[in-house]
Amino acid sequence: MQSSFPLVTLNNGISMPQFGLGVFQMSDGQEVESSVTAALEAGYRLIDTARMYGNEAGVGNAIRASGIPREDIFVTTKLANPDQGYDSTLRAFDASMERLNLDYIDLYLIHWPVPSRGLFPETWKAFEKLWGDGIVRAIGVCNFKPNHLETLLEKAEIVPAVNQIELHPWLQQHETRDFCKKHDIQIESWGPIGGSGGTLLDDERLKPLAEKHGKTPAQVVLRWHIQNGFVVIPKSTHPDRIRENADIFDFALSDEDMTIIESMNKDERHGPDPDVLGS
Ligand SMILES: NC(=O)c1ccc[n+]([C@@H]2O[C@H](COP(=O)([O-])OP(=O)(O)OC[C@H]3O[C@@H](n4cnc5c(N)ncnc54)[C@H](OP(=O)(O)O)[C@@H]3O)[C@@H](O)[C@H]2O)c1
Repeated sequence: MQSSFPLVTLNNGISMPQFGLGVFQMSDGQEVESSVTAALEAGYRLIDTARMYGNEAGVGNAIRASGIPREDIFVTTKLANPDQGYDSTLRAFDASMERLNLDYIDLYLIHWPVPSRGLFPETWKAFEKLWGDGIVRAIGVCNFKPNHLETLLEKAEIVPAVNQIELHPWLQQHETRDFCKKHDIQIESWGPIGGSGGTLLDDERLKPLAEKHGKTPAQVVLRWHIQNGFVVIPKSTHPDRIRENADIFDFALSDEDMTIIESMNKDERHGPDPDVLGS
């Protein structure tokens, strides 16, 4: 695939852009369509949506309207928690495809493990069928801790290609990163700059780094994700921020800069704990 941003190779051999747009909390219709359009114009080629975001239709509209060849855009969507289970997953996938109105999906993810329901292993079987049918190019999970992955891998025929987790300088997730590295599962960071209403970007330790490189705190943090090898999908509805977030490929953080950001970890989640989220 063509991309002006770096690509990573997933464990099944396919390429995925390392940088893209997340569309959580964007309303369907004009808001998501104009944001995806602005991102595609700024060179983004990875769009991350989900059934739960309620904006798959708008994402599909913007992609089709862009005129960019479908094979040059990497589209991710996710299975909503209430749809876990074998048959319900297959039905939910068809409904997502209909809303997106695309011929295939690049990456389909289980949105949360919901361990209290115990359905993720059979949900994964349905994911493996979708992959075998060739209608998704890669399958993966979100918010899986090592214990959830261990359970999944006991019966899985296909190792997840991606684990999308909350990950940022205040929540560095070393245990999950180490497990995924061992099993060749690509880490993708959600909430990478601290999420909506977050205060990560005000952390005083980021300011000198931003000044040193002539960049913003958001750009410094996004660059940290890139240099760690994570796929990263910051969300913005503002075209100027959409461009700002992408303007991170003309500088590099030094080892010393990286160490300063490593030292910011405080294991602080902004989202739910995957062990307790259930529905
Ligand atoms: N798998 C999961 O369970 C899960 C959970 C959450 C999110 N995600 C995915 O990950 C994506 C990113 O996570 P997120 O949306 O929660 O958080 P995020 O990308 O870390 O932060 C988004 C927030 O930062 C603001 N922002 C964006 N660029 C900025 C900049 N340059 N300077 C200052 N503020 C900026 C945005 O506001 P404006 O829009 O007003 O610019 C928004 O309020 C989501 O959109 C979604 O695709 C996945």
